[in-house]
Amino acid sequence: MHTVITYGTFDLFHVGHVRLLERARGLGDKLIVGISTDDFNAQKNKQAFTSYEHRAEIVKACRYADLVIPEIDWEQKRQDILKYNVKTFVMGDDWLGKFDHLSDLCDVCYLPRTPNISTTLVKKVLSEKNYF
Ligand code: CTP
Repeated sequence: MHTVITYGTFDLFHVGHVRLLERARGLGDKLIVGISTDDFNAQKNKQAFTSYEHRAEIVKACRYADLVIPEIDWEQKRQDILKYNVKTFVMGDDWLGKFDHLSDLCDVCYLPRTPNISTTLVKKVLSEKNYF
């Protein structure tokens, strides 16, 4: 079994998220997705529009995610990799180099982001006056 893991907030689930999960799943036989909890996001000064429970439910419904787990702090990644016998750790390339320290445990892979879409952009466009 080749297990892949990735982490993120996945707020306002969009096509960039789908494509990241599709490519991550394609690197192995099982994909685990760690979803940042609302408390962890607060520590990062980030506030998701959608609650953790609903973001987890949405990602679980995506065919590429085999298992969804909460991401509660920065330190848990090493434990998760060992606990789930992870072979490949994946993030989008906005995180390039940031998780190289995990390469003593598994492969660390940064996938190119899908251009022109992000949760931040969706929020910005929808907040613009006269959008509708
Ligand atoms: N991602 C991607 N392509 C995009 C947007 C996100 O591949 N266009 C990837 C990120 O690199 C990350 C995962 O999807 O590995 C979850 O990203 P997340 O931060 O939840 O989504 P963003 O849209 O980047 O959110 P924000 O704008 O709040 O940073």
